[in-house]
Amino acid sequence: MKTLIAYFSHIGENLQNNEIVVLTKGNTEAVAEKIAELTGGDLYKIEEEEPYPFKYDDCLRRSRREDENNEHPALKAGMKLNMDEYDTVYIGFPIWYRTYPRIVASFLDNYDLAGKKIRPFCTNDEGTFGISLLEMQSVVKGAEFTDGLAIRGVDVHNADERIKVYVG
Ligand SMILES: Cc1cc2nc3c(=O)[nH]c(=O)nc-3n(C[C@H](O)[C@H](O)[C@H](O)COP(=O)(O)O)c2cc1C
Repeated sequence: MKTLIAYFSHIGENLQNNEIVVLTKGNTEAVAEKIAELTGGDLYKIEEEEPYPFKYDDCLRRSRREDENNEHPALKAGMKLNMDEYDTVYIGFPIWYRTYPRIVASFLDNYDLAGKKIRPFCTNDEGTFGISLLEMQSVVKGAEFTDGLAIRGVDVHNADERIKVYVG
């Protein structure tokens, strides 16, 4: 059985140290790649059909709307994962508006993760998971959740040791 690292990451304006910065590589993507390197697992990027806006304010507006209306936006049509191949699934995301982006909710709708070991990780501006872990545990039934790893965006490129310890 194999390990999967499924993640969502946003390219564009982002919040870092409470300031808007342009990221050319997503923070969560950088962590996902490190985990893949350490585990030898398969990387899978969760992508949306209608791209999230580049501009932070527009992205925040859409994320808030999706959150408030409980919208689960369409995933980009493409490679469908064969989830049966995996027994361990890392799920990575940025914290948006205190939880995971709704596109990650769409991903969770689409795959049966029962019986898998789920290892959640996130990046954020404040260092916590917000309500994302509780939310994920309430919608993913029958899976075994391990501890999560939360890394501040500003620390992502100095986090190799933490990631190594987490991966084990
Ligand atoms: C729309 C939006 C909403 C955000 N909301 C939060 C938040 O509620 N709490 C927080 O700590 N960071 C928040 N952030 C900051 C991101 O979580 C942080 O920059 C993260 O590392 C981005 O990861 P990425 O580059 O993989 O997308 C938000 C960023 C965006 C774009």
